[in-house]
Amino acid sequence: MEKILIVDDEAFICENLQRILGEEHYDTAVAQTGDAALRWLRENQVDLVFLDLNLPDRNGLDILKDIKGLDPDLLVIVITGYASVESAVEALKMGAYDYIKKPFKADVIKLIVRLALETQSLKREVRSLKKQHEGWLADGAVIAESRAFQEILQQVREVARHSDTTVLITGETGTGKDLIARTIHTLSPRSTRPFLEINCAALPESLLESELFGHESGAFTGAKVRKLGLFEAANRGTILLDELGEMHLGIQAKLLRVLEDKKLRRVGGTQTLEVDVRIIAATNVDLREAIKARRFREDLYYRLHAFPIHLPPLRERPEDVIALAKTFLSEYCRKYGRGFGGISPEAQRRLAAYPWPGNVRELRHIVERICILHEGERILESHLPRELSDPCESEVKDLLPPDFAIPPEGIDLDQVVDRFTHDLIERVLGMVDGNISQAAKLLRIPRGTLRYKLEKHHVESASD
Ligand SMILES: Nc1ncnc2c1ncn2[C@@H]1O[C@H](COP(=O)(O)OP(=O)(O)OP(=O)(O)O)[C@@H](O)[C@H]1O
Ligand SMILES: [Mg+2]
Repeated sequence: MEKILIVDDEAFICENLQRILGEEHYDTAVAQTGDAALRWLRENQVDLVFLDLNLPDRNGLDILKDIKGLDPDLLVIVITGYASVESAVEALKMGAYDYIKKPFKADVIKLIVRLALETQSLKREVRSLKKQHEGWLADGAVIAESRAFQEILQQVREVARHSDTTVLITGETGTGKDLIARTIHTLSPRSTRPFLEINCAALPESLLESELFGHESGAFTGAKVRKLGLFEAANRGTILLDELGEMHLGIQAKLLRVLEDKKLRRVGGTQTLEVDVRIIAATNVDLREAIKARRFREDLYYRLHAFPIHLPPLRERPEDVIALAKTFLSEYCRKYGRGFGGISPEAQRRLAAYPWPGNVRELRHIVERICILHEGERILESHLPRELSDPCESEVKDLLPPDFAIPPEGIDLDQVVDRFTHDLIERVLGMVDGNISQAAKLLRIPRGTLRYKLEKHHVESASD
């Protein structure tokens, strides 16, 4: 039941208001002076205050100020006498919700109170949503220990506020493109509206088209009833177009039109509909390559490129690996009733050294598997899957031919190792047609390190 405080020194007014409000089943309390009201408010939760501006002890406007100081969101309706419209206006300027003049009518009071309480509950809802959003990042929904990812979160916060800006998220599989898209939506003013996603690679062209734009009944065989498209369903919300790089050229043209005009037509329809959605596109293919290969429209690329966010692969941010592993560990310990309290230093070293071709998703799965299969106080090296627990030995142990003879005068270790490094890099580059990113992945070193080694060992590379 909503609680209303009446602050007035005239017993008649108080009784009258109490009676009217009682008819609507509101719970009421009465204070006859400003100080008594403030004392009461400090100790009690209240939804609404009626405040007479003519009180015996203090100026009503001062009391209003103090009430607002206690709770800026508390709604106050001021009660004024006949000749004091000016002070009512003053009170409104100071944040009063409304005013009523004496004598008042019961119906008016009831209506004002109902509207005021509706406003109050909306305000509270907004406040709790806001808190939820602020909490989203604070709660660690997105782990970002590395500088690279912290900078990304900064960009996310920034673009979230600009709720019409199109965002293009790129990154290898499992780097967190979905998560970042959802975070942008959650932190944006659109967050109370839908967040809908569609995988552009999963559907044949005609189906994707009607999923996105909707269709009228009879638009094609099988279209028995009118169907709303994703753009309409997500109105005033956000759409994530996942695996955009795989979208058919025909649909790309239509999407471009929607982006340019903010209007669309359902398939088989004549009516033009306005749409208001933010588009976030995600892809793990290089769109510039796709443009070169004529699989992606350059004009659409530039439209979507308004705010690009690139998520670096996990192997380039080892600081995140351990933080993510610990987060997933407590999540799966809860889920599977395990008591792992941490990760041993050796296991941490292995985790940080592994190249994570499947990125964060792979890490999540590995931690989950450990929690299913093992129990203990800490995650040990022996709990890790083979590819992590002894990555090198198994692959490298036979590289030195058994008949490799050391000449009597000895060998120059540095020179031999350099030679070996040169040959190995050349071999790997040959395997991947000179693609440095892929070669770096196979050699489990960052691209920058590979480039440095290429220079140092004078290896020719074809492309980046
Ligand atoms: N920074 C992060 N903090 C917490 N969890 C993360 C982070 N990055 C990724 N994840 C988790 O990793 C998993 C994979 O992330 P997500 O699905 O967003 O990747 P993706 O880039 O969309 O992958 P794909 O290209 O395969 O669609 C999810 O469970 C996600 O919650
Ligand atoms: Mg994804």
